[in-house]
Amino acid sequence: MRFGQDILRQADDLAAFSEDAPRITRRYLTPEHRQAGGYLLGLMRDAGMEAGYDALGNVVGRYRAEAPEAPTVMSGSHMDSVRNAGRYDGLFGILTAIACVRDLSSRGKRLPFTFEVVAFADEEGVRFGVTLVGSKAMGGSFDPAWLDVKDAGGTTLREALVAFGGDPDGWRGLDRRGRDVIAYVESHIEQGPVLLDAGLPVGVVTAIAGGSRIRVTVTGLAGHAGTVPMGARRDALAAAAEMALAVERIASSPGRDGVALVGTVGVMTVAPGAINVIPQDVTFTVDLRSASDGARRAAVAELREAFAAIAERRRVEVGVDEFYELPAAPCDGALQDALAASIARQRVPVRRLASGAGHDAMAFPPVCPIAMLFVRCGANGISHHPDETMSAEDAEIATAVLLDFLEHYEPPQR
Ligand code: HGY
Ligand code: MN
Ligand code: MN
Repeated sequence: MRFGQDILRQADDLAAFSEDAPRITRRYLTPEHRQAGGYLLGLMRDAGMEAGYDALGNVVGRYRAEAPEAPTVMSGSHMDSVRNAGRYDGLFGILTAIACVRDLSSRGKRLPFTFEVVAFADEEGVRFGVTLVGSKAMGGSFDPAWLDVKDAGGTTLREALVAFGGDPDGWRGLDRRGRDVIAYVESHIEQGPVLLDAGLPVGVVTAIAGGSRIRVTVTGLAGHAGTVPMGARRDALAAAAEMALAVERIASSPGRDGVALVGTVGVMTVAPGAINVIPQDVTFTVDLRSASDGARRAAVAELREAFAAIAERRRVEVGVDEFYELPAAPCDGALQDALAASIARQRVPVRRLASGAGHDAMAFPPVCPIAMLFVRCGANGISHHPDETMSAEDAEIATAVLLDFLEHYEPPQR
């Protein structure tokens, strides 16, 4: 085995860089970000790459082409995690690309393009709530207002970036649009059961679902839990609970044009938060996704109506802030076919599938065509959970596919 066992061992090493070991939690601009970044810088340099941090804390490695004026092909994924994460989400895409470079440089082989591997510093958005910070900067859609967003402790992204040694004004220089990047190809654990159920180690992604992230605030009236009659209450939590069930109902029904939706209420805060006080202020989040932007946008409108009706009937106030929206991202047909040919050369059946999860690749269509290679996710496809798993054999096959793709990919004639 040339790659698989090393990659799983490296993922184990990186799992130790966590804010709450033995769980895995690694947020943006934390000491754990720096530990993981330092580890990945070492791997990149050992593999023969020039590597360093960029202004936003992404770790960027380059394996230069023979010809100085050659175009660039990009790969990579994210090094941050959700809370209590799995150890392959994001990291596999970085480690497999570095393993390819290590193999190429061990043979003294250069490619007809510069191969750039990025460990994105904040894809999940756990600390500041905005996601794809690094990849959106490279895709030209970074919003400078994000610099003033605060984390739970009141630290702004700008302050945390300066403390990390980054440059809050440097995001402009990361824009890769018009910079002769000809393809972005990301490898990622599937985070679902499709390849597992099909008995396949890898698959080609056809499109990445688009998403809306909504913050809902419900304001009722606190009161004594023992003296306020039920009919006189303006209970913010009871209203929010009914709204959360509306999310489940609307996301469970077929979306417009019949395309499936998924909806999740992942965070809810309650104030004042005392056992004997009727809740007055509740905030919760909604994560809504679909491969169809039309279906998703129609569902957001339906949610707004449902929330307003519930608020009126329960005599509470409701605020709905869709603070994040990202359209679905189709994967380039020619790149899909090139990945499929590489899979076939490994004598593995080719399976194409959509991605319900979001990825850094979604930020790159303004730069270049995108593609993704999925790797089988074990344990019933569970992810965003410590049981997330992949086999060394599948890591081996996926890396062989990516290496084959890199060695066969011909930059389009200019
Ligand atoms: O939420 C997602 O789909 C990704 O894990 N950020
Ligand atoms: Mn994730
Ligand atoms: Mn991911």
